[in-house]
Amino acid sequence: MSIWRVQGGYPLEGSVTIQGAKNAVLPVLAACILTDGEIELTNVPVLRDVEASLEILRRLGCTAERQGDVVTLDCRQVTGSAIPGELAGQMRSSVIFLGALLARCGQARLALPGGCALGPRPVDLHLAAMEALGAHTQIADGELLCWADGLAGGVIPLEKPSVGATENAMIAACGAKGASVITGAAQEPEIVHLQGFLRALGADMDGAGTSVITVRGFKPVRRVGWRIMPDRIAAATVLCACACAGGDVEVRGLEPAHVAAVTRPLEDMGARLESGTGRVRIRCARRLRGGQTLITAPYPGFPTDAQPLLMAAALKAEGVTTFVETIFSDRFRQGAEMARLGADVRVAGRVASVTGVERLCGAPVLAEDLRGGASLIIAGLGAEGQTDVTDPGHVARGYERLDETLSALGAHIAIT
Ligand code: EPZ
Repeated sequence: MSIWRVQGGYPLEGSVTIQGAKNAVLPVLAACILTDGEIELTNVPVLRDVEASLEILRRLGCTAERQGDVVTLDCRQVTGSAIPGELAGQMRSSVIFLGALLARCGQARLALPGGCALGPRPVDLHLAAMEALGAHTQIADGELLCWADGLAGGVIPLEKPSVGATENAMIAACGAKGASVITGAAQEPEIVHLQGFLRALGADMDGAGTSVITVRGFKPVRRVGWRIMPDRIAAATVLCACACAGGDVEVRGLEPAHVAAVTRPLEDMGARLESGTGRVRIRCARRLRGGQTLITAPYPGFPTDAQPLLMAAALKAEGVTTFVETIFSDRFRQGAEMARLGADVRVAGRVASVTGVERLCGAPVLAEDLRGGASLIIAGLGAEGQTDVTDPGHVARGYERLDETLSALGAHIAIT
């Protein structure tokens, strides 16, 4: 348990380089199981979910060493196909190992990922994708069992553009005999990034970034180097922090197109945005304007992970800003905590209405999930006085030293 002590009232100034992407590195780490060679990953963020994934790989018999932001893996010896419950439980996305274990070992056993503060997190699309490749699946005693005597390529129709199910299908298809076509695929930048990594490993595949991904074959290479893409949601977090606190901030090392669905609403709220090669600059000098309706959607739509962050930016914006959460059923928990700061947030099911207030007053609040916790920290930047955000460990799952990043921009934040 840690407490983020945030002193409001200090505008942010300066520039930061964005960390490697949590949601890109996790499927890449799982995909390493496909090869029996050595892989060197760079720009790997220091995050709890990444360390949990490295520990899972070690338990499966791989070696995984970290030197700063460089992680070297050797999956020559994969001796197991079961992910221990205590590790699977630490990280919701341990299900991302399913496709890789099936492809490499022909079987997989892992604890069902529990629900979390965003609502139920089913895995039916993951299982259907594995079954489309000829695998058998079974859920028993809170565990997920999958096995196959050889995966056979085929059509993998996804009913929803699930990011994780798309990633599992891409990775498993590399271990299938014959070509596979994934239809209804998610189109997030992290999917395109994973395709790039799988190609570097020896996959013959294309289509990532569209709804149809084709995997023709896989001839694993023995030594691969790969740089993890920048984290678009961490970038959105810093941009929204400036929207909350005011100031002039440049975010470097990212693809501006990847955050366009966040910078557009910020601009419509009255922030001044400038984009260049690998950078985005935001200036906020006066009170922002509300009035928009922001509906979360799969990429390239408004990202659900940025919904709590934009909500923080809207708390003092003049007028009413409406959020519609179409991806997860319970992702407005930060609203009740924001109300403790004096915000006016009304939640009805999947709709939250934020009526901007003139001022927020610091108060003790509780982080209930990763992005909700981040939204409370940045809301505190725009509140008068001190906001103590109690965090049972969510923020460290997805942000590398967020306190240092914001302090370097002039925020007064201390973690106790
Ligand atoms: C990934 O989660 C991200 N996590 C999430 O980021 C992100 O919010 C989400 O994609 C949506 O963009 C990682 O990449 C590690 P989904 P994932 O499968 O893959 C339903 C963060 O804060 N669904 O695209 O779990 C599901 O319930 C995290 O960084 C099924 O119904 O998300 C949800 O309503 C939070 N059956 C929708 O699909 C399934 O088998 C989208 O989920 C799987 C998902």
